[in-house]
Amino acid sequence: VFFFEAVFPSSMVSDFILLLLEGLAISHHFYTDKEEVVLWMNTVGPYHNRQETYKYFSLPFCVGTKKTISHYHETLGEALQGVELEFSGLDIKYKEEVLQTTYCDIELDKPKRDAFVYAIKNHYWYQMYIDDLPIWGIVGEADENGEDYYLWTYKKLEIGQNGNRIVDVNLTSEGKVKLVPNTRIPMSYSVKWKKSDVKFEDRFDKYLDPSFFQHRIHWFSIFNSFMMVIFLVGLVSMILMRTLRKDYARYSKEEEMDDMDRDLGDEYGWKQVHGDVFRPSSHPLIFSSLIGSGCQIFSVSLIVIIVAMIEDLYTERGSMLSTAIFVYAATSPVNGYFGGSLYAKQGGRRWIKQILLLHLKKCHISHLFDQVAVCCICFFVILPLNLVGTILGRNLSGQPNFPCRVNAVPRPIPEKKWFMEPAVIVCLGGILPFGSIFIEMYFIFTSFWAYKIYYVYGFMMLVLVILCIVTVCVTIVCTYFLLNAEDYRWQWTSFLSAASTAVYVYMYSFYYYFFKTKMYGLFQTSFYFGYMAVFSTALGIMCGAVGYMGTSAFVRKIYTNVKID
Ligand SMILES: *[C@@H]1O[C@H](CO)[C@@H](O)[C@H](O)[C@H]1NC(C)=O
Repeated sequence: VFFFEAVFPSSMVSDFILLLLEGLAISHHFYTDKEEVVLWMNTVGPYHNRQETYKYFSLPFCVGTKKTISHYHETLGEALQGVELEFSGLDIKYKEEVLQTTYCDIELDKPKRDAFVYAIKNHYWYQMYIDDLPIWGIVGEADENGEDYYLWTYKKLEIGQNGNRIVDVNLTSEGKVKLVPNTRIPMSYSVKWKKSDVKFEDRFDKYLDPSFFQHRIHWFSIFNSFMMVIFLVGLVSMILMRTLRKDYARYSKEEEMDDMDRDLGDEYGWKQVHGDVFRPSSHPLIFSSLIGSGCQIFSVSLIVIIVAMIEDLYTERGSMLSTAIFVYAATSPVNGYFGGSLYAKQGGRRWIKQILLLHLKKCHISHLFDQVAVCCICFFVILPLNLVGTILGRNLSGQPNFPCRVNAVPRPIPEKKWFMEPAVIVCLGGILPFGSIFIEMYFIFTSFWAYKIYYVYGFMMLVLVILCIVTVCVTIVCTYFLLNAEDYRWQWTSFLSAASTAVYVYMYSFYYYFFKTKMYGLFQTSFYFGYMAVFSTALGIMCGAVGYMGTSAFVRKIYTNVKID
């Protein structure tokens, strides 16, 4: 315990414990009359660049007179998302009306005016919180000819209360004051309390946008993908059943022929490569690490989506990210297990190196966040868990129990048509899976890059399931063609043909950037493409692992059923 405490900042430990308890305990948001209500100032930034945010007080706003506040707790998720709450200094008490009161003056000199003018030109707006409810307001306004700039100086707060809980907040900005250098601008606020019928549980509903997320298009796309799945699964199973049955019949007929006939007979097809299909893939170290990571990403997505379906994670700042980090750490044995057992099956010896490789990949991602805390989790939680998973994987399912023996000498790969080349198969493989998810991608991107709260996790779950089924079907078909062309390099081909979905998603993100958003500036642009690259890579590794897993079950099945002499 001491070691644990020394390694982790104690706030982090309490974070994790809080996170665990959050599901059980109902967080308290009860107030008594005249109890202090804190207005937190969060960030300010341009409307069109949602991720470009600065501290509210980085603009020369002034702070109210009240200085003391009760305890404030920040979670890891909040810190990573850049939530930096600062006290506004406004004196607000539960159910106590405040008439328009000046809380401070801005001494507007030239630099301060320039700062405000810059902010107004770029449509800056700010965000605040009262009792975890977000409030948005705009900084100011320019007149039509763009010469005069005005600041909104009066924050009119209307707070809805139901019993002893805050259920609604409205902000109206008034008091337009022209920005003239070397003047004093008084900032004022007022608070009005109203009785409201909104239930506490429903107080976030007004931030959701059902007309956007439950639009006909969304339902239609799900239905569409669903039909595609049924069609695809039907098609794949029909084709495979028929051709495989034919193949088996042909192979068993050949069994009965004598050697003389067999030499003359036309032996071709996937059976020919039985001595090579289970040959370890090239670069087994990287391959098994990728599969391990993909399995982990898949389980993280699955668990986080299920948690988000049960709990309304959007009501708690940063809880989505905290949950994801927690689940990620907790599922690292999955990574070790699948990666380790695959590596062992492929005859890998350097398993320590493999663990480190699995591990380094992750820590590299965490550097993005530039957070010591995340690296601590990385080294002291994920590494040991990964180790446990790998040892389990090597010992429980690390034996190479393939249905066919691997020949000592690799078979030469015959010439084949251009469209049977692995590179072509890889490029084409991603099209159908991408087609099944791209509408959902639009909704996910919009909620991440614009001001919409994603809440339809049921849809997301369906899409994930559909994506997995489509990916597996497509890779199985690809692999069947490849093996039939007597090319046994199916491991990487199946992985990459599924992973190429991510390339299409990344290309789609370019379209989205140029036609669906109004982001600008080097900072935001690099941020956008960087994040999209990370997202696409994770998606690609996940799809690749799912595709490979499905295909390897298929390959195992067909070679178990055929008699090999
Ligand atoms: C906030 O505004 C909405 C929409 O105008 C209104 O329905 C609601 O009653 C207002 N809430 C309060 C507390 O004034």
